[in-house]
Amino acid sequence: MKAIHLFSTCLSLLAGMISVSAQPLTPRQRADRLLEKMTLEEKIGQMNQISDKSKLTGPVTERGFSSLAELVEKGMAGSLLNVTDPKAIRAYQEAALRSRLGIPLIFGLDVIHGMRTIAPIPLGEAASFDLEAIERSARWAATETAASGIHWTFAPMVDVCVDARWGRVMEGAGEDPYYGSAVARARVKGFQGDDLSAANTIMACCKHFAAYGAAVSGKDYNSVDMSRGHFYNYYMPPYKAAAEAGVATFMNAFNDFDGVPCTGNAFLLQELLRERWQYPGFVVSDWNSVGEMVPHGYAADRREAAAAAADAGCDMEMCSLCYFDHLKELVESGRVPEKKIDDAVRRILTAKFALGLFDDPMRYCDTLRMRRTVLSDEIRAAARDMAKRSVVLLKNDRRVLPLPADIRSIALVGPLCDSQTDMKGGWAGEGVVDSIVTLRRALTDRGYTVHFAEGYDPATGRERDTGAAIRAARSSDAVIVAVGERASDSGEAKSRGELNLPAGQQELVKKLVDTGKPVVVLVMGGRPLIFNGIRECAPAILFTWWLGTEAGNAMCDVIFGEYNPSGKLPMTFPAHMGQLPIYYYHKSTGRPADPAKSHTTRFIDIENDPAYPFGYGLSYTTFSVSAPRLEKAVLAPGEETRALVTVTNTGERAGEEVVQLYVRDRFASVTRPVKELRGFRKVMLAPGESRTLEFPVTKEQLGFYTNDGKFVVEPGDFDIMAGNSSDNLLRTTLTVTQQ
Ligand code: GLC
Repeated sequence: MKAIHLFSTCLSLLAGMISVSAQPLTPRQRADRLLEKMTLEEKIGQMNQISDKSKLTGPVTERGFSSLAELVEKGMAGSLLNVTDPKAIRAYQEAALRSRLGIPLIFGLDVIHGMRTIAPIPLGEAASFDLEAIERSARWAATETAASGIHWTFAPMVDVCVDARWGRVMEGAGEDPYYGSAVARARVKGFQGDDLSAANTIMACCKHFAAYGAAVSGKDYNSVDMSRGHFYNYYMPPYKAAAEAGVATFMNAFNDFDGVPCTGNAFLLQELLRERWQYPGFVVSDWNSVGEMVPHGYAADRREAAAAAADAGCDMEMCSLCYFDHLKELVESGRVPEKKIDDAVRRILTAKFALGLFDDPMRYCDTLRMRRTVLSDEIRAAARDMAKRSVVLLKNDRRVLPLPADIRSIALVGPLCDSQTDMKGGWAGEGVVDSIVTLRRALTDRGYTVHFAEGYDPATGRERDTGAAIRAARSSDAVIVAVGERASDSGEAKSRGELNLPAGQQELVKKLVDTGKPVVVLVMGGRPLIFNGIRECAPAILFTWWLGTEAGNAMCDVIFGEYNPSGKLPMTFPAHMGQLPIYYYHKSTGRPADPAKSHTTRFIDIENDPAYPFGYGLSYTTFSVSAPRLEKAVLAPGEETRALVTVTNTGERAGEEVVQLYVRDRFASVTRPVKELRGFRKVMLAPGESRTLEFPVTKEQLGFYTNDGKFVVEPGDFDIMAGNSSDNLLRTTLTVTQQ
């Protein structure tokens, strides 16, 4: 009996071993095996990211290499960025494969809102409040990027921002941490899909970690200073959401945080990212940010900067070459433990295995697929769909919009109606400009008689040949005038101290309105702008951001009613510069604003209300939204319920509404905002149609972070509010009992 038992035990053990050995190794296991074979120099090489020669920070020849290809062939770079020519990508990859261990390169690029087919700027996409559309847009961007040989985008940018002076608001999802978290998840899913080795997915990168959008006075690269509690509740959530969504990489921010540059910040990179979130991906520095710890006054020299960044857990250095110059000596001298290097390189190699680069290093270098994919009709149609959903209708008096089908001639005023470059918006470097459809082109293609007039100087905004614009208006059935900033006025290093549109633009609009013709004003920009004169006189205003390759067609879809605009503002639009920073989730304070009283929190010399609030946007139809009805109005600790909200299309045409749910925790151990977005649903309704929407009311809706980072729900009363804008809400009360 014993022998049989022994025999069967051995058999099952053997079977187990075979089954284990038969299972393919995971990317992490494959990385571990490769790591064991690497020299210290080769490991450090993987931590080095260098830009294409046209944007190289420090000439490689200073490091004793005749070319970037030679440095790659020596295994001294793990990744390149800004290489966009497929032939160059292939050549660099072949050089990497000639290195001793043949470790392939990762090629990265800022694909922020499309690669060659450009989608609306991310802040414009965010205005759609359509997560499926946003995810689709990222997926198409990934498709076009992967087909072009690139494996990694430095997106999504998820930095919350409440100050429109900061030029990089155009790259994000606006002021709200809850909505920003939802958009972060959608974009990560869109870029990465479920399989990084698939032909239409690429690695994403959550940036900029952390709180870069809180730069003091909206000045790019400026200091960031806030309490931990404020960070946890209003800036941290989108980074956490991206990590939980499985984003493959993080990029640290240029700014300091708690007085420590993010690139060397152990609280962010170790305590939060690795210990609390158990985040497995790798961290890349932002451009030169390792070396910039010296001008920050944090590292005495580039050697100390390399040590600080490696100690904190910055795995890959973008461009500043401090690791390249100093890390070997730092490890050999014992200043930096080699384990730090091993941890970093393991994460980088794991990503390369997950991308499938070791199995097929040229998998993305398929010029035939690139030609078939780039600017395809499918991708253009998707860009147009995303663009029309991004437009926000701010005003529509006397139903000027949509313009009637029987008009034949249009006065088209303003250089932005005819500028392909501006339609791209910022961070659209590879966008194919001559493929961009301007409004002028789209109107002409539709057969309208277009009387074009420049109306103002594009550089200064001063009126130019106003007479021609007025004559064009008088000889046309309707007027469309485009005003705003230039696309080059927003983006990185584009902080602005003045957001008022030029007086000339606003005076021109007034003169066009005075002709008595129907006037549609398109305001274009990469951020909230101030245009009180236009707000007052124009009957119809659309905010169109920068809509990308299909801008003109998408604008026509909205202007002529083929698409009923459904966008909502993802950022508060100020009425005066003095209001900045301005956001809807402000605190009550001990002296809540009250114009009827003195000594309350308000300005005495400017208006206190914003021009347009967060979540605001009109439609060509109208909707009513009921007060929320709670399935259970009194909850024991830990209990959950649902809020039911009925929305009705009270107008004569179908349209989409974004029903928003806000919560206020009336009394808590820390002061809480007067309201916070905690749910939203976008629904299409036919005229007269009603629908009851269910919103979960759980810990996620009721909780907040304490100053030591615990997420809690405290007992007490809560306002649960529903509506179609942050300033148009009906409320009910929910109570969480003590026990
Ligand atoms: C830039 C930006 C960052 C970008 C990187 C690479 O300076 O801060 O968002 O991804 O450098 O271009």
